[in-house]
Amino acid sequence: NKMSIIGVPMDLGQSRRGVDMGPSAMRYAGAIEKLQELNIDTHDLGDIPINRPDQKNIDNDSNLKNLEQVIEANEKLAEMVDQEIEKGQFPLVLGGDHSIAIGSLAGVSKHYDNLGVIWYDAHGDLNSSETSPSGNIHGMPLAASLGIGHEKLTNLYGNAPKIKPENIVIVGARSLDPGERELIRERGIKVYTMHEIDRMGMSKVIEETIDYLKDRTDGIHLSLDLDGLDPSEAPGVGTPVIGGITYRESHLAMEMLAEAEVITSAEFVEVNPILDDKNKTATVAVALMGSLFGEKLK
Ligand code: ARG
Ligand code: MN
Ligand code: MN
Ligand code: MN
Repeated sequence: NKMSIIGVPMDLGQSRRGVDMGPSAMRYAGAIEKLQELNIDTHDLGDIPINRPDQKNIDNDSNLKNLEQVIEANEKLAEMVDQEIEKGQFPLVLGGDHSIAIGSLAGVSKHYDNLGVIWYDAHGDLNSSETSPSGNIHGMPLAASLGIGHEKLTNLYGNAPKIKPENIVIVGARSLDPGERELIRERGIKVYTMHEIDRMGMSKVIEETIDYLKDRTDGIHLSLDLDGLDPSEAPGVGTPVIGGITYRESHLAMEMLAEAEVITSAEFVEVNPILDDKNKTATVAVALMGSLFGEKLK
């Protein structure tokens, strides 16, 4: 049980300042202590340096904000994640906006032929520069990892694609852009929207998710965007969407994943303490880490 914590104070994948303080907020909320309490040998590797552009850097040709800086940080992250797995460590990445999943998945995917991904999020993050309404790269990491979008994002730290559409499960979706819907249909990506969570219950959703991924994958990365939860319980996020997953449903999901022992890497992203209520969202993130890493089983 060895874990490496990698902080990525990235806020260049979207337009609101403050999410760069996400790693600090989760450390302040006791992330490292929580893992140590669970007898996990935890090594905090600190934060990856992010180079901030001198001015707002919008490449009008590509519709990709801060492309160069996002690539640079993600390359460093991919390399670190790759090295930690090589050493036998479980990588836990603290964001930062969701654009950092490009680097996490690029690094992790070096070690798996059929990497599974659970994308716990209000959004699909399946836009490309062509379909994105915002030009924000945090709305593109899942597409980029599938090999869709700007070649500098899709080929980051190795050739595209990093993951296959049939190895993805999205949980909690309730805000999907037209291009994302089309992609989901076209590629047959499995999605549990809030409708299915309400209808089936989270228990059945996670049971099915595990069943679906277990046989077809050789590892599963959990990418948990705090905006998957309802903004009443996780208000410190940049793109809140009403009608989300509850705190209790989220704990249940994490506990079921812990019991099944299927998660091989994880990231917690989009915590923005500036928009938060007394660090509530980072505190929720740390509580969920507890469940994901076996609190109930000890
Ligand atoms: N779909 C919107 C966009 O592409 C919002 C994406 C929000 N992504 C996130 N990781 N919070 O801009
Ligand atoms: Mn040690
Ligand atoms: Mn989201
Ligand atoms: Mn997201």
